[in-house]
Amino acid sequence: MKILLIGERGQLAWELIRTLMPIGEVISVDFPAFDISNRTQISDTLSTIKPELVINASAYTNVDLAETEKEIAMAVNADGPGWLARECNRRRFLLIHYSTDFVFDGSKRTPYVETDKPNPINVYGLSKLKGEESIQAETDSALIFRLAWLYSARGNNFVTKFLEWAAKYETVRIVDDQIGNPTWARFVAEATASVLAQAMPSGLSLYDWVREKNGVYHLTSAGEASRYDWAQKIWELAPNRDMLKLKEIQRANSADFPTPAERPMYTALDCGKIKQSCRTNVSNWIKQQINNLEV
Ligand SMILES: NC(=O)c1ccc[n+]([C@@H]2O[C@H](COP(=O)([O-])OP(=O)(O)OC[C@H]3O[C@@H](n4cnc5c(N)ncnc54)[C@H](OP(=O)(O)O)[C@@H]3O)[C@@H](O)[C@H]2O)c1
Repeated sequence: MKILLIGERGQLAWELIRTLMPIGEVISVDFPAFDISNRTQISDTLSTIKPELVINASAYTNVDLAETEKEIAMAVNADGPGWLARECNRRRFLLIHYSTDFVFDGSKRTPYVETDKPNPINVYGLSKLKGEESIQAETDSALIFRLAWLYSARGNNFVTKFLEWAAKYETVRIVDDQIGNPTWARFVAEATASVLAQAMPSGLSLYDWVREKNGVYHLTSAGEASRYDWAQKIWELAPNRDMLKLKEIQRANSADFPTPAERPMYTALDCGKIKQSCRTNVSNWIKQQINNLEV
């Protein structure tokens, strides 16, 4: 199977490239050689490569900057995915796309399910929701996985940032009023591959199987944590703990750190749908964190 992977330098794409290699030939592209907000480039690239499956791991992910760069965020996260879906649908190519827990406003106190009404409270969340909607308007052969609090051993994420702070400072203050699902990028890549593998025993072609499963799925770790809980666990598990300067993590409130974009307070996602429909095994966030720090 030929797979076109968009956003190759991103933290999720890095894991996808390695995880999907045994499944097929992965051709990866990224900005600026391939710009998802350029309609002609989408069409030309699909015509040249002719993949069976397109995986869009690209996105405008700077949540704070999106508040002032709304047009770019919308072009990359909303318009581009819609055009991509239209072009895929026209050619009968399958599409896998990733969205976010930030489509919700965070006012719930139990994990969100796919039928809960999104209500984004920042531009990034809005742009990702528009992306979901435009894909669903253009094709009925796409899987959209909503992820949350993504991290990996590389790139700019909470784990790499916290370890940097822990190496520099004796005390760090971390908010304990934002709750979510810390989710390892490798877990998402492996879950994506395992979802694709489910088509085989079904007796359907991959194309027909994806059409049957078409829709939005929550895909995160199991169990929820505050940023403070998460920081404590990273510190506890850090392989170079003795070398770190850190002596104490203090609890803080989001109000202590005003940011351009408002963050939803509670965005844990319920993964019951993907577990049942795609037989995906969803592991606990602490187990994922242990594995991440061990490799
Ligand atoms: N990170 C999280 O905590 C989180 C949480 C929930 C959901 N998600 C979703 O998960 C997916 C993967 O996230 P990630 O953390 O792996 O993102 P990432 O590390 O920021 O990677 C995104 C990639 O997209 C590329 N890109 C940006 N604009 C582009 C354009 N116009 N055309 C083509 N490529 C472009 C980026 O290139 P540059 O580096 O040059 O900009 C980068 O390589 C995204 O859909 C994201 O919304 C992420």
